[in-house]
Amino acid sequence: MEKMEKSLKEELLKNLGSGIKLILILISAFLFFAAMISIASAGQVRHIANSSRLINRGRYLVENVGKCADCHTPRDRFGRLIKSKWLEGTVLNLKPIHPVPGWAGKTPDIAGLPHGWTQKDMIKFLTTGINIKGKFARPPMPGYRLTKEDAIAVTDYLLSLKNLSSKK
Ligand code: HEC
Repeated sequence: MEKMEKSLKEELLKNLGSGIKLILILISAFLFFAAMISIASAGQVRHIANSSRLINRGRYLVENVGKCADCHTPRDRFGRLIKSKWLEGTVLNLKPIHPVPGWAGKTPDIAGLPHGWTQKDMIKFLTTGINIKGKFARPPMPGYRLTKEDAIAVTDYLLSLKNLSSKK
């Protein structure tokens, strides 16, 4: 009788032991997945932070270095850039003193990239000066030779304007 009681106790303890083990396994599985999810979302946050840093760099290059808006943004009758039509292309407000062959009288819409251009086309153009037709743009478009990193930043910034653009 005593022996039977003892083995019953042992059996009970064993069952309890495996129950606890199961709980521990479940808890570690939960912690593992929670850790994986937090790592994944931290990566995403970092990605967003990186892309906004790139866009800010692109904005700086476009607004302060390349001065793209001087030629690519329409002006009001006082000569002020129209912010709501930022980089949407315009008739140029400058003319050469002497005739320049091939002088382009207007600029294309580059907010969200020119029509039909891919990101790759834009990066090639900004790093080499060669457009999608395999040619240089006509004057007075400067033949920029940006580094690839800067060209990517400018392209990302221009793409970020797509939804803000007044026409699109
Ligand atoms: C001095 C005036 C001027 C400035 C500054 C300027 N552009 Fe232009 N851009 C032009 C003109 C003019 C054209 C049209 C050229 C043509 O029709 O061949 C043009 C064309 C372009 C094109 C299309 C090129 C093609 O061959 O189809 C892109 C893209 C472009 N500009 C991007 C930019 C960017 C980005 C900046 C600033 C980093 C910039 N431009 C600054 C005058 C300018």
